Amino acid sequence: MFVPPKSPADELWDGPRTGVDGVKEIFAADEAFDNGRFPMFLKDALLSKHVFMDSPVLKPSILSESTAMKMVDFGKSSKWLDYIKSKTQRAVKPLSVLVQELRIIKSENEIDLMKKSGNISAKAFIEAMKWTSPEYTEAQLWAKLDYECRMRGSSILAYVPVVASGPNGLSMHYVRNDMQMRDGDLVLVDCGGEYQSYASDITRTWPVNGKFTEPQKKLYQAVLNVNKACIKLCTEKANISLHGIHSVSTRLMKEELAKIGFKTSTWELERILYPHHVGHYLGLDVHDCHDLDRSRKLKQNMVVTIEPGIYVPFDDRFPREYQGTAIRIEDNCVVGAEEPYVLTATAPKEIVDIEYCCANN
Ligand code: GLY
Ligand code: MN
Ligand code: MN
Repeated sequence: MFVPPKSPADELWDGPRTGVDGVKEIFAADEAFDNGRFPMFLKDALLSKHVFMDSPVLKPSILSESTAMKMVDFGKSSKWLDYIKSKTQRAVKPLSVLVQELRIIKSENEIDLMKKSGNISAKAFIEAMKWTSPEYTEAQLWAKLDYECRMRGSSILAYVPVVASGPNGLSMHYVRNDMQMRDGDLVLVDCGGEYQSYASDITRTWPVNGKFTEPQKKLYQAVLNVNKACIKLCTEKANISLHGIHSVSTRLMKEELAKIGFKTSTWELERILYPHHVGHYLGLDVHDCHDLDRSRKLKQNMVVTIEPGIYVPFDDRFPREYQGTAIRIEDNCVVGAEEPYVLTATAPKEIVDIEYCCANN
């Protein structure tokens, strides 16, 4: 590892540095050096047969030895990347895909951290449900979730949450989170804390006043049925990929919606009512291993999200009673050999549990 060396003058302003010795001790680096020596190191490293490197401007390309030497001269500027791009002979290979391959199956230690992460966030959701009322704004509910996650050991929220009451939930990336919550509306909250850098990613949807209306109940139960059926597929035994689970989820969603009065084409379902994917890999990043495609079969100890949703616009192609309603239910699952392990099971999602929770503040 190359790190900035200890410097009392700089540390006076910016705080303590780990330094070269500290890096060996704390991060178990085999070798550690002052980063001022990096250009010289690079000169030797570039003589290696394979160079693995990521850069926003560098696509996998070819690098000649003479170019490599020039890179050393440009070691401290970004111009050397231009040299790499344009020259021949030596292969430069992308690094991040290899790292993502190492990250996609979690170790037992990682899963322990993710259990803790999921549990912290799930408990924050319980507190948020108990506390929700029409007297508060979305911004205040965001603050409540942030507070409850941090008080349980999260260092930070893993992403800017969506706290969307009423029709705000129809916008998938609503993050203004600044409106007054209204009696009779649902609030859709997509929020998760990080624990020891591992993200959780939960969505729950609950009534601002604590009681679902009849149409809200029917639509909610439809989404919940799809959520639960898809979670059951998070096993190696099911021999299925995330894309495969997505296909199942759209088929089931269409059936569920038909039962409650929708006459919806597959096109309308996939483009309007349920326009996003059922899930993604989860880990150190919220969208973990994002370069690895979702058609690979799920293997034991992968961690994925399952997050079907329905967003009914004000459009008379859809039943009036559901218009303006947005519902998503998102859980985090460890893929098991025969059974999934739901990291976010503590966050209430059955209608009775949510209403019980909302009533007990
Ligand atoms: N919170 C981002 C997502 O659900 O993918
Ligand atoms: Mn989410
Ligand atoms: Mn997600």
